[in-house]
This record gives sequence, structure tokens and C-alpha cells, in this order.
Amino acid sequence: MTIGHPGGAPQGSLEQVPPFALPGEHFAAALVWLVLGAAGLVAVAPELAQGGFLLPHVIAVTHCFTLGWITTSIFGALYQLFPVTLGVPARSVRVGHATFWVLEAGVVALVAGTWWWHPALVAAGWLTMFLAVGGLAWNVLPQRRRAPRGRVIGLYVSAGHMAFGLAMAVVAARIGAELGWWRLERLGYLAAHAHLAVVGFATLTAVGVGSRLLPMFLLSHGHSEWPLQRIGPLVGAGLAAFAVGELAHVGALVVAGGVAMAAGIALYLWLGAAYFRHRARRALDPGLAQVAAAFGYLAVATGLGLAVLVTPGFHPRLMVSYAVAGIVGWISLLIVGIYQKIVPFLTWLHRFSARVGQPGVPRIAELTSPAAGWTAVGLLTAGVALLAAGVAAGAGAVARAGSLGFAVGTALLVAQHARLALRR
Ligand code: HEM
Repeated sequence: MTIGHPGGAPQGSLEQVPPFALPGEHFAAALVWLVLGAAGLVAVAPELAQGGFLLPHVIAVTHCFTLGWITTSIFGALYQLFPVTLGVPARSVRVGHATFWVLEAGVVALVAGTWWWHPALVAAGWLTMFLAVGGLAWNVLPQRRRAPRGRVIGLYVSAGHMAFGLAMAVVAARIGAELGWWRLERLGYLAAHAHLAVVGFATLTAVGVGSRLLPMFLLSHGHSEWPLQRIGPLVGAGLAAFAVGELAHVGALVVAGGVAMAAGIALYLWLGAAYFRHRARRALDPGLAQVAAAFGYLAVATGLGLAVLVTPGFHPRLMVSYAVAGIVGWISLLIVGIYQKIVPFLTWLHRFSARVGQPGVPRIAELTSPAAGWTAVGLLTAGVALLAAGVAAGAGAVARAGSLGFAVGTALLVAQHARLALRR
């Protein structure tokens, strides 16, 4: 493994990785948001099963996942992975810590502002998030130009950030309307914002960073690299057409953009399957099984997204099950799987690597319990399936049972990570 590990790490990367505290604080805060998101899902499951995606509590729970869990994790991962995958560190660790606190303040304001539907607080959250995203962009993105390797990964991360900026610009127009400054049609803006953020920011970042991480975890060799040249342009062009079509009410652009996005994602699914097919390590551990399940949910979400696109009329429950599969099933579970791989490793590196050879130093595998890991994978994966099925069928009790399974799985996962944090 090469996430800053001497054995096989690219030259120079070890000196350049940041202190453990920087990614560590991001990962710890992100896990707190995952717990809040999981508890929130239990609370709003009946509303989800009625297709209530415009309800304030639902929007707040969405952002516990999208900003709290997903965005905080991505920020932390970029500080750790840029030195290793691109060979360049962030410009300033101190700015990184400051950005972390600004980011968390922004997420708190946004989640509270949407939960109690307080547009001025949502606007304050937007401004704070703007500072945080600007801080990260200054700290990390320009480094890509000095990078001796990993050019494609850098391009995906930058494209992801551009999409984040556009998602923020779109939602600023919505917040202005909410404050009474102008009028807008809500649904088109919401569709543009959500896709720019989930597909453009989170998924493109995952495609780029995952192109290095996943083959490394799977010990996968011999898969094609060319799909990476096509996926970004296809998804990016499709997303741009889709967003413009939604904002300007041009149905043909929405459909063409949606189909292009789906084609790009289908190519990524093919690449993801190739990572697994070409793996040298045949047996999957809980982290990699969780990643495989996340890819399954990406396929399901793509199918549901196409169904939303081509089914005439307004089908809120179909839209919500699409969002559950994409946000909770795909991107959230992907990150859960990656945490199960990198957090024990980084903890070991930080706590024990200097004492190797001394008595009482555990091996990485001894830091976690595979049984607890497998139980968490089962509960989280089945929980999302039950939740999405309950929503699609309009069955609140089934949706709540699924969200409860997900919450218990989250509790187990967090207990594993808490045990890691306390291990001496
Ligand atoms: C600064 C960043 C962000 C701000 C200020 C923000 C704000 C908002 C607001 C105000 C809404 C409700 C819009 C409406 O009611 O019409 C919304 C919806 C949504 N946002 Fe964000 N958002 C941000 C970032 C993100 C990110 C990074 C993601 C995904 C990775 C995301 C995903 C979504 C989704 C899926 C919805 C629809 C939720 C629903 O309808 O229940 N947002 N956002």
C-alpha cells in the first residue's frame, strides 16, 4: 500500500504527507456527520416515502450526507492523497486547519438553516462554504501544475471543484429567490444544483482519486486506462447540457445531457468492474466488498436516473429513490469502504510505525475486527436497499426499517473507528 508508506511509496511522498492531525480531524468530523445523517434518515424516512424532497428536514438531512460526510471526507482525503498520487503537498498545513473549521462552521449553518428553514442562515452557510472551498482551492488545486505525475487525477479533481463552484452559483440564485430578491422556478434549479454537486463534484472527484486508490487496494494490474480519457469529457459535457437545459427549460437539452451523463457513468462502471476483474488479491475484505456494493448502487442509480428522465409526468418517489441510491448507496458507501481501508492504515503509520520490531506493536490487520466490518457492510448495504425500495413503494414502515438498519451499521462502523482512535 502506498498512501504515504515507505514500502513502494513514490519518492518524496513520505516527507510531503501532512501531519496526521490534518486528514484525521476531517475524517473524525465526517464520521460525526455520518451519524447525524443516519439518525436524520430514521427521522425523515416517512417523508421520503411520500416523495417529500422539498421538505426542510429532508434538505437538511441531505446536506448532513453531502456536505458533512462527503465533502468533509473529500477535503481530508485530498490533503493526504495529493502528495502521494501527484507528488505535491498542500501549500499550507495551517491554512488547511483553518479551512477545516470554516468548512464545519458552514455545514453547521447550512444544516441548521435548512432544518429550521431560515433563509438568512442558509445564506450565511453559503458564504462560509464559499470561504472554505476557496481556501481548499488555493491550498491544493494550483499545486497540480507543479505535479510530476498524476496529471489525469489532478484534472478530475479540478473539474470536480469547478462543478462545486457552479453548484454553489446555482444555489445562490435559489437563496436570493427565497430572500425575496427575485423569482425562480424551484425544480429546475434544484435538479441543476443536485447534479452539479453529486455527479460533477463528488463523482468526478471519486473517479479521479479512485483511479489510483482502487487498483492499489485491489492489487489490480492490466486494466485499460483509456476510459479515463473519455469519462470526464462525456460526463462533463452531459452535465453542462443537462444543467443549462434545466435552468433554461429546454427539454431536449435535459434529455441529451442526461443520456450523455449516463453513458459516461456506464463507461465508468465498466472500468470499475475491470479493476475488480483484474485484481491479484481474489478474496475481498469488508472495505473492498463495501466498494463493490457502492458500484452496484451506482448502476442502480443510473438506471433510476434514466427512468426519471424518460418517464412522462412528475414522480417524486421515483426521484427520491434515485437520490437515495446515488447519494447514500453510491457515493456515501464508496467513502465508507475507502475509510475501512485507509483509516486503520494511517492510524498504524501514525501510532506504531516508529516502534516496529518492539514488543506489543500490533499489525494493521489487528487494529480492526473483520466480523464487525462484515456486519457493518451487510447492515449498511441492505439498509440502503430497503430504504430505496420502501421509498419507491411509498411504504413508510419499510423505509424506516431500512434507515434503522443503516443507522445500526453506521454505529458499528463508528465504534470501529473510535476503537482505532483510542488504540495505543
Ligand atoms: C455551499 C454548498 C451548498 C449549499 C449552500 C447548498 C444549498 C442547498 C439548498 C438551499 C438546497 C435546497 C434548494 C431548494 O429548496 O430549491 C439544496 C438542495 C440540495 N443539495 Fe445542496 N448545497 C450545497 C452543496 C451541496 C453539495 C456539495 C451537494 C452534493 C454533493 C448538494 C446536494 C444537494 C441535493 C441532492 C439537494 C436536493 C435535496 C432535496 O431536495 O431534498 N448540495 N442545497
